[in-house]
Amino acid sequence: MDALSKTETMAARIKRLILDHPVASHPWFDHMRTGQVEHTPEQLLNLLLNYDAHATLLRRLLLESATLMPEPAVGFILENVRNEYGNGDYARAHRGQLLDIVSILEREFGLKREQEFRLTDGVRAYMEEVPGFYKPDPSLHGDFAAIACISAGAVTATEVLALEEFKVLQQAFRPFELADHLWFDHVKIESEHAEESLDLIKYFLAEDPDGSTFNLIELGVGGVLLSNTSLYEGFLEAVSVKPLCLKGES
Ligand SMILES: [Fe+2]
Ligand SMILES: [Fe+2]
Repeated sequence: MDALSKTETMAARIKRLILDHPVASHPWFDHMRTGQVEHTPEQLLNLLLNYDAHATLLRRLLLESATLMPEPAVGFILENVRNEYGNGDYARAHRGQLLDIVSILEREFGLKREQEFRLTDGVRAYMEEVPGFYKPDPSLHGDFAAIACISAGAVTATEVLALEEFKVLQQAFRPFELADHLWFDHVKIESEHAEESLDLIKYFLAEDPDGSTFNLIELGVGGVLLSNTSLYEGFLEAVSVKPLCLKGES
């Protein structure tokens, strides 16, 4: 096998590792699929605000990950970060799109975000666990090159799974006629981010004579797979909360 196809094979193996892991079929995904469960606006509002809490941390971690990359690899992350912050126009930042859906739910259903939002234990746990893989501790993992590989693995697992998340998120908002909201352009955007992150790990895998680079990437991937288990527990918890006042009750 030539070097190029070996790199492609290794990157494909990483992608399979992510998608075949039990976290990629966590019960939260099924819970969100159209027709499985009828969510209340309160539950979806709580979910969005939990999603926002984790995404706000992730954007910062992505920025930090870019600073850890060797010069030629920085570009694989910058495009992703630029997208998040609105491609030079903060009015188009992704967070604003999410908060726009929050405002619609508040307006249409007379809800208040302060009243509906509970940061779930799972999302809280995720926010404690995941930074260690985006910015690994050099005293635990060795040199600068090792740190960059672990962080690249973490970015890749996040982006590949984000695409799966947006596919089901979009379905859950369909009954509220919000599936065509701009935020759900993420189904396309996350597929681009996933490709860019796979290009990032291919950059590292191109020089991997003894398989040690693969192992480091796998470490970052594995860390995010575990952290995302907490995350999806948290999302499931967010969409399982009982509304404060059920329809038909006084
Ligand atoms: Fe985004
Ligand atoms: Fe992304």
